[in-house]
Amino acid sequence: MEACACESKWAELNKIIDAYRGQPSALIEVLHKAQELIGYLPQQVQEVIAKGLGVPLSKVYSVISFYHYFSIKPKGKYQVSVCKGTACYVKGAPEIIQRLEENLGIKAGDSTDDGKFSLEVVRCLGACGLGPVMMVNKHAHGLLKPDTAVKALEQYN
Ligand code: FES
Repeated sequence: MEACACESKWAELNKIIDAYRGQPSALIEVLHKAQELIGYLPQQVQEVIAKGLGVPLSKVYSVISFYHYFSIKPKGKYQVSVCKGTACYVKGAPEIIQRLEENLGIKAGDSTDDGKFSLEVVRCLGACGLGPVMMVNKHAHGLLKPDTAVKALEQYN
């Protein structure tokens, strides 16, 4: 087996799989645990989970693709979380998400190829008065417009 970012966690991953071996219905639970452990779900991890639980690899991939929560790439250096809670939504969060997706060249739930940014959509961040809001790692940016959201990312190198 080739080396991957998950190599040092391989034993723990096998323990998780062993607990659900031959149980296809546990797929989502196992994917959650594996992502918690490793941070993302690379091809090799998908393969051992498919084999261990007895589900086709295509099924594993379709579940990962369906849920934004799951990622097949490592998180970026900067995690951009855009709020799509009700208050932010009505103040223009969808346009901000769309502009950031265009600007970064990725869809929400994905990371840029250079590993710099990952983009995710989240529920209320608890700063509705400042909506639309996004977090970049631990820093909040509020009262955003599509242009100011793109501009805000320029300060992260
Ligand atoms: S809805 Fe966005 S911070 Fe509350």
